[in-house]
Amino acid sequence: MKVDDKNLRPIWLDENLKTIKVIDQRLLPHEFIIVDLNNVDDVIMAIKDMYVRGAPLIGVTAAYGVYLAALNCPDNQTANGFLTKECDRIKSARPTAVNLAWAVDKVFSKIKKAKDRQEKIDAALKEACSIEEKEVENCRKIGEYGLALIDEISSKKKGETVNVLTHCNAGWLACVEYGTATAPIYAAFEADIDIHVWVDETRPLNQGSRLTAWELGKHGVKHTVITDNAGGHLMQHGMVDMVIVGTDRTTYTGDVANKIGTYLKALAARDNNIPFYTALPSSTFDWNLKDGIKEIPIEERDPDEVRFVQGLDHKIVRNVLVPPENSPAANFAFDVTPARLVTGFITERGVCKAAEADILRLFPEKRV
Ligand code: MRU
Repeated sequence: MKVDDKNLRPIWLDENLKTIKVIDQRLLPHEFIIVDLNNVDDVIMAIKDMYVRGAPLIGVTAAYGVYLAALNCPDNQTANGFLTKECDRIKSARPTAVNLAWAVDKVFSKIKKAKDRQEKIDAALKEACSIEEKEVENCRKIGEYGLALIDEISSKKKGETVNVLTHCNAGWLACVEYGTATAPIYAAFEADIDIHVWVDETRPLNQGSRLTAWELGKHGVKHTVITDNAGGHLMQHGMVDMVIVGTDRTTYTGDVANKIGTYLKALAARDNNIPFYTALPSSTFDWNLKDGIKEIPIEERDPDEVRFVQGLDHKIVRNVLVPPENSPAANFAFDVTPARLVTGFITERGVCKAAEADILRLFPEKRV
């Protein structure tokens, strides 16, 4: 996507074909730093410590991680044995986004049959690039299908501003290009629909106020950062026309895991009769899980992410402590919104209801 007239992705392969370059998202919007990932340890660190984050981008980074594993396989190891262990290590970097294991398995399945070392390296690179480009195309299509929904609201409002509320960052920074939740927003903006986005700040790491606000601002999309607790009030006063969020893992029955706080937005939206959509590529469906609340693993992260807040202080990015020094904190990173609260899914194959039968209508090849 365009940043200050330059085309940018959050990840790319260096010309030397040995290094993956990523934007360090921990420091945005106040510092723009590009970091080199040269081996599997670097990739795991980047995913765990959230230099890169967001389900599709975690998947793409992991795919390149398998490529780096193939590239750095020591001569004295059986390639498949070594790669199996490296793939397991990458898969354990973060638990909730299903794209991680999906991408690793996809690349590994292409390389395990390759005859020699060079063939494995070539196959891994080809598959990682293909995953990246397919996710870009998926997000583009999500934008097209979501645009129709926004256009309908705009027509009903006779061209008045359409107000969309979003939580976390499900933008291009989380996905490579377009984003999932933001793809329909960008498409509506390009189609000259009057659109405005309420951006939940998204504590504790503020992916909304740091990343979504930055992205939308760089693109020229009207937006306003709000506290995580403001959405219900805005909905009660007719100031939200629709909610669009992304997801880290969605069951084939329609339960949606996304950044902590999403569930509360869905409850408020239902109470106020406001459509609540989840935008996702097929790589984020978990075709094996039926009950999201019981079965989706919810990551618990360092409580210090809750206790400290990061911001700019006299041009220096600093962390400051908010609660009393000795107060314990808990950091549940995701929650699950049950299918019954979700109006629909916006996918690369179209829009469907949050129900097994309708999801499988769009993805018939996943029927058992
Ligand atoms: O902890 P994060 O920042 O990786 O969480 C990201 C989210 O919850 C996003 O909404 C989700 O991954 C969808 S990204 C298109």
